[in-house]
Amino acid sequence: MSNRAVSYAGPGRVEVIDAPYPDFELKDGPGVHPANIGRQVHHGVILKTIATNICGSDQHMVRGRTTAPEGLVLGHEITGEVVEVGRDVEFVQVGDVVSVPFNIACGRCRNCKEGQTGICLSVNPDRPGSAYGYVDMGGWVGGQAEYVLVPYADWNVLTFPDRDQAMEKILDLTMLSDIFPTGFHGAVGAGVTVGSTVYVAGAGPVGLAAATSAHLLGAAVVIVGDLNEDRLAQARSFGCETVDVSQGNPVEQIEQILGVPEVDCGIDAVGFEARGHGAGAATEAPATVLNSLMEITRAGGSLGIPGLYVTGDPGAVDEAAKQGSLSMRFGLGFAKSHTFVTGQCPVMKYHRGLMHAILADKVTIGRNVNATPISLDDAPQGYAAFDEGAAQKFVLDPHGLIPR
Ligand SMILES: NC(=O)c1ccc[n+]([C@@H]2O[C@H](COP(=O)([O-])OP(=O)(O)OC[C@H]3O[C@@H](n4cnc5c(N)ncnc54)[C@H](O)[C@@H]3O)[C@@H](O)[C@H]2O)c1
Ligand SMILES: [Zn+2]
Ligand SMILES: [Zn+2]
Repeated sequence: MSNRAVSYAGPGRVEVIDAPYPDFELKDGPGVHPANIGRQVHHGVILKTIATNICGSDQHMVRGRTTAPEGLVLGHEITGEVVEVGRDVEFVQVGDVVSVPFNIACGRCRNCKEGQTGICLSVNPDRPGSAYGYVDMGGWVGGQAEYVLVPYADWNVLTFPDRDQAMEKILDLTMLSDIFPTGFHGAVGAGVTVGSTVYVAGAGPVGLAAATSAHLLGAAVVIVGDLNEDRLAQARSFGCETVDVSQGNPVEQIEQILGVPEVDCGIDAVGFEARGHGAGAATEAPATVLNSLMEITRAGGSLGIPGLYVTGDPGAVDEAAKQGSLSMRFGLGFAKSHTFVTGQCPVMKYHRGLMHAILADKVTIGRNVNATPISLDDAPQGYAAFDEGAAQKFVLDPHGLIPR
């Protein structure tokens, strides 16, 4: 069997390559941790990929802002049809259409047992937490490919109840592998509930998913900030207020909208590549969003921080930031008794409920993030357009199965 996949080809470049067809034993390859070579994965399934999305998290690698090795097959947002099951799989069956959480988790370690699947202790020899096709995540092969291996399948996958219904809503359901649960986790972490006022920094797909989630949770007002006008228009298209952070500190614009210069809940959907505010928006200032959320969020409030922060950034603005050390005004957060919720989203906590919300027409996440299917061969163009700030969430369709 052959396989084709999107691979990282050095800063600013991805290419579509011929890749090995997966089997139930891990092989050496770019980024594969030596301790994972030869690992037996009879608890896994092989999926024929139906939809696999390009993510802002991939862009950090492709922009050369991580230590990702060239040749790494990318892709952690995977939805597919099971075509082979390993001998130790009990319940997942050939033909099932499933969503795969981007976190790889064993279901057996202490953290998995406590529902913390974003920091599974068993699958990445380097550190807690793992993902497909991602730097420092153990070297599991990514899913922006025709076929992909999913380990611990009985534990990891979410099977859709009906295949035809799943294909009808595939542009919504494909967001269950990452950004919808991630945005929802950001909103839950920020304490969003009925009547909340919410500020979401970032109108990329994760910010739009967080804003969608805040509405779903009953927020009274959802304000989204970015410096990208097309993305702000996308946020307005489903009922959000917006602020343009290139016009200045968002706190003044928030006061114009709410009558008070603070919100109940703050969400960082930007991460370490944050731009400054006002005239500073022309340059990177990695602690901008964290500091501004501490200023904007009410005393006693919580900050949901799905935006990614790294332990090493070769392209950082200064020496400290190269080690992931940022100039945070932590004293302000302390003074306001803020709670910070960080880390990989434990997708499994949320994906089943959000699937049912999609299937019952309670939410249109695909529309809200402007899901746009493209072929696997067009992945390089998709990456380039996303990098330029297109107000779109690109969904790769390796087998031409998604209705256009
Ligand atoms: N924690 C998790 O589990 C998880 C999962 C998925 C993605 N992420 C992270 O979430 C972040 C967002 O992902 P995405 O796909 O939406 O990325 P993206 O790059 O498409 O979006 C980021 C947006 O932030 C905007 N921005 C930059 N500086 C800003 C500022 N100061 N204020 C407001 N907006 C600003 C950019 O213009 C851009 O539109 C990334 O860091 C990604 O790695 C985390
Ligand atoms: Zn992602
Ligand atoms: Zn585990």
